[in-house]
Amino acid sequence: IKKLAVLTSGGDAPGMNVAIRAVVRTAIYHGIEVVGVMEGYAGMIRNDFRPMKSRDVSDIISKGGTILKTARCEEFRTKEGRAIAYENAKAQGIDALVVIGGDGSFQGAKLFSEEFDIPTVGIPGTIDNDLFGTDSTIGYDTALNTVVSAVDKIRDTATSHKRVFFVEVMGRDAGFLALRSGIGSGAEAILIPEVQTPYDKLKQFLNDKTKGHKSSSIVIVAEGAEGMKEGGVFKLAERVNEDYPELDIRVSVLGHMQRGGAPSAFDRVLASQLGEAAVVALMDDQQSVMVGIQNNKISHVPFNQAIKNKKNVNLDLLKLAEILSI
Ligand code: F6P
Repeated sequence: IKKLAVLTSGGDAPGMNVAIRAVVRTAIYHGIEVVGVMEGYAGMIRNDFRPMKSRDVSDIISKGGTILKTARCEEFRTKEGRAIAYENAKAQGIDALVVIGGDGSFQGAKLFSEEFDIPTVGIPGTIDNDLFGTDSTIGYDTALNTVVSAVDKIRDTATSHKRVFFVEVMGRDAGFLALRSGIGSGAEAILIPEVQTPYDKLKQFLNDKTKGHKSSSIVIVAEGAEGMKEGGVFKLAERVNEDYPELDIRVSVLGHMQRGGAPSAFDRVLASQLGEAAVVALMDDQQSVMVGIQNNKISHVPFNQAIKNKKNVNLDLLKLAEILSI
């Protein structure tokens, strides 16, 4: 490889900057030129490439977001859009591509690398942790810590007022963030998309807790949990309130604060390792793969598997939450 391009795509995640830094510096270390693409695939189509030197990634290891900006690009979903991106990249002399993003970004990367002769490697960056083939995605650990510290604060006020809080947590269709943050914050119940929690069960659970005179209850609700599409967490809280008018219920939707902030030490190390691994993979003639870490070892997972295979949440944690919140 002589000249490599790196971009961030889809929803941003804390630690993306660390991955960019690692890609840029590993490439330079091996004598490869690097360009950054602004705003993901949109920048490839718009011809927005910027040369990246080692000093261009100074002082970004602790910064959330992505210095390259990011976008979800509709045009890249079309064959015509990808062809324009390819022509622009070729004209720049780019002969390899690193895509930092989630499953939507890898779908684009997969098609692009099948259609054209620019080998592409992906680095998993999303707070959702919903990519098969890596134990953790970049940003997930930071988001977990953000949620836990937010819920700690909610707990203070919940206890003071003896309230029940429904806290909505991100994660798209997956419950990773909700499940682990629920354990980490001592939640009384956790609703995730992977498990149907019939309303009766939730009622029964709330009943137990109130009988047990807990001074506060936190119910973590994943945004993708069953029934959330029909009215969301507010509707759920309303329904519970109708059945238990004696409960003082509040709702808190954590929202995009979960995507920001300085990356945790764990995410910084992960992103550094994966950034290096992506460049090394390209130098070893790998393509159409996502680099990940499984059991402390770098893995190379075909895009197809990373996107299509289902990564399972650890359902034992649900039982654990039940045991530990008596
Ligand atoms: O994929 C990351 C994520 O934050 C999801 O958890 C959430 O569903 C979605 O992105 C929100 O997207 P947007 O930034 O477009 O509101």
